[in-house]
Amino acid sequence: MSTIKELLIESLTAEDNRSQNKITIVGTGAVGMACAICILLKDLTDELALIDVSEDKLKGEMMDLQHGSLFFNTSKIVSGKVDIMTHVAWKLSGLSTSRVIGSGCNLDSARFRYLIGEKLGVHPSSCHGWIIGEHGDSSVPLWSGVNVAGVPLMALNPNLGTSEDKENWKGIHKEVIGSAYEVIKMKGYTNWAVGLSVTNLALSILKNLRRVHPISTTVKGFYGIKEDIFLSVPCILGQNGISDIVKVNLSPEEEALLKKSAKNLSSILKDLEF
Ligand SMILES: *[C@@H]1O[C@H](CO)[C@@H](O)[C@H](O)[C@H]1NC(C)=O
Ligand SMILES: *[C@@H]1O[C@H](CO)[C@@H](O)[C@H](O)[C@H]1NC(C)=O
Ligand SMILES: *[C@@H]1O[C@H](CO)[C@@H](O)[C@H](O)[C@H]1NC(C)=O
Repeated sequence: MSTIKELLIESLTAEDNRSQNKITIVGTGAVGMACAICILLKDLTDELALIDVSEDKLKGEMMDLQHGSLFFNTSKIVSGKVDIMTHVAWKLSGLSTSRVIGSGCNLDSARFRYLIGEKLGVHPSSCHGWIIGEHGDSSVPLWSGVNVAGVPLMALNPNLGTSEDKENWKGIHKEVIGSAYEVIKMKGYTNWAVGLSVTNLALSILKNLRRVHPISTTVKGFYGIKEDIFLSVPCILGQNGISDIVKVNLSPEEEALLKKSAKNLSSILKDLEF
């Protein structure tokens, strides 16, 4: 007796089911799943793998996504558990530094541009501005580079970003720093914006776009930094990971803040035992 499949489908060649590209997400919490749904909806990969220690949660999330298969073009959604996590950690540790990318200030800068856009009534993609250094409290906003259509806002207001500025643009940076805390206070965690920002990095890598992102890499030797640390600076990101660093002109104040951040980070790292 032939099966319906055999009656319906005549196979011409053996199926090659290897994926052209695959993205693995470690952790199926709120952030991991936000990354997953963004990657699926942006049509970034042929295969999406989820990894977690909690088997039920993992299988539930995998099945839930698989049930949506009709609505996206990723043919394979799979999952794996712990042992693999150890493997991933081991693999990661052996990667060259250009392939270990911290999402760093990519999200801080996105929030910065969103808030600048809100103040000006312009879409964030047309508001250019960079936050570099450490992700979080001691991040450094590069006010000297903030511009719309190539017009530096600092040329219009030399006090931009300082305490002397009557329009309090500095408050925008404070808001960026506080925004994660604020969202966490209200909904318990942040996930959508970070999922979108990580997906945006994945796009640059998978399509070899060589776009510039504020992401963290080893910065020893740049901007007068002597410490062996990772900090976010504008980097060119493509299929080989971070291939280049863009040397931004920092004002003396900005460079001092970045150096201070580097020193602080290095002293914290010294206190940790590896
Ligand atoms: C490909 O298909 C074969 C036969 O169905 C299966 O044994 C194998 O596990 C599949 N490989 C992958 C990578 O899914
Ligand atoms: C999947 O592909 C179809 C056909 O090219 C397209 O119309 C649809 O927008 C795609 N969906 C996603 C989520 O990329
Ligand atoms: C150093 O970093 C810690 C932890 O992020 C922070 O609490 C502290 O204020 C920082 N100190 C300086 C001088 O930036």
